[in-house]
Amino acid sequence: MFIRSDGLLVKRTRTGRDLRREAEMMTYLSGHGIPVPRVHDATADELVMQYVPGPRMSEEIGRKPWLAGQLGKDLADLHHRLDVIAAPDFLSGEGNLLHLDLHPGNVVLGPEGPVVLDWASATKGDRRLDIALSWVSLAVARLAPVKKLTRWRFLRSFMANVDPKAIEAIPEAARIRLERHDRDPAERAALEKLMDRKRH
Ligand SMILES: Nc1ncnc2c1ncn2[C@@H]1O[C@H](COP(=O)(O)OP(=O)(O)O)[C@@H](O)[C@H]1O
Ligand SMILES: [Mg+2]
Repeated sequence: MFIRSDGLLVKRTRTGRDLRREAEMMTYLSGHGIPVPRVHDATADELVMQYVPGPRMSEEIGRKPWLAGQLGKDLADLHHRLDVIAAPDFLSGEGNLLHLDLHPGNVVLGPEGPVVLDWASATKGDRRLDIALSWVSLAVARLAPVKKLTRWRFLRSFMANVDPKAIEAIPEAARIRLERHDRDPAERAALEKLMDRKRH
């Protein structure tokens, strides 16, 4: 990832994943009023987009813990904006549009409001699963500068402002997160515990 001399940001593929898919997703979202960086150009291995200045929501929670409640509500509001738009036809599967990685590290607090990044995992499904994934990534991730109490206040406010039934999707969200990347042992253990909730 680097900023070009014209001020645009270039994201390069690290895994060989075709970035045109992510670009197509972002263009679709812009057209439906979802705040995402404007796409300028995309090839299989380079995505050129608007650089949005501002702290990530995760940084803001760490630096301004007194805003945790409001920021939790802001993340919930972003989910509500996704709730009302149709998933694009080019996504396969059934259901509504899911980001699947909508955690505070993928939100930039830009001059015109929060902007959602990183649409690589977008898919179709039950919106409650998307909410549960937001919850799970913040509940188990190691966020060095964010104190436990602050994180909890963020999560409590987030959950108070979304569909309460999303809690039921937590075991499935934990399974998806566990599957997706290499996780450190502490996070794996936390995720396995969340998955076990199903059996009780
Ligand atoms: N358009 C953008 N404007 C500002 N910052 C960005 C933009 N795109 C990415 N970033 C920064 O780069 C980080 C990584 O980008 P992201 O798309 O989330 O890729 P990944 O998480 O797959 O590495 C983001 O968390 C954010 O800090
Ligand atoms: Mg990211």
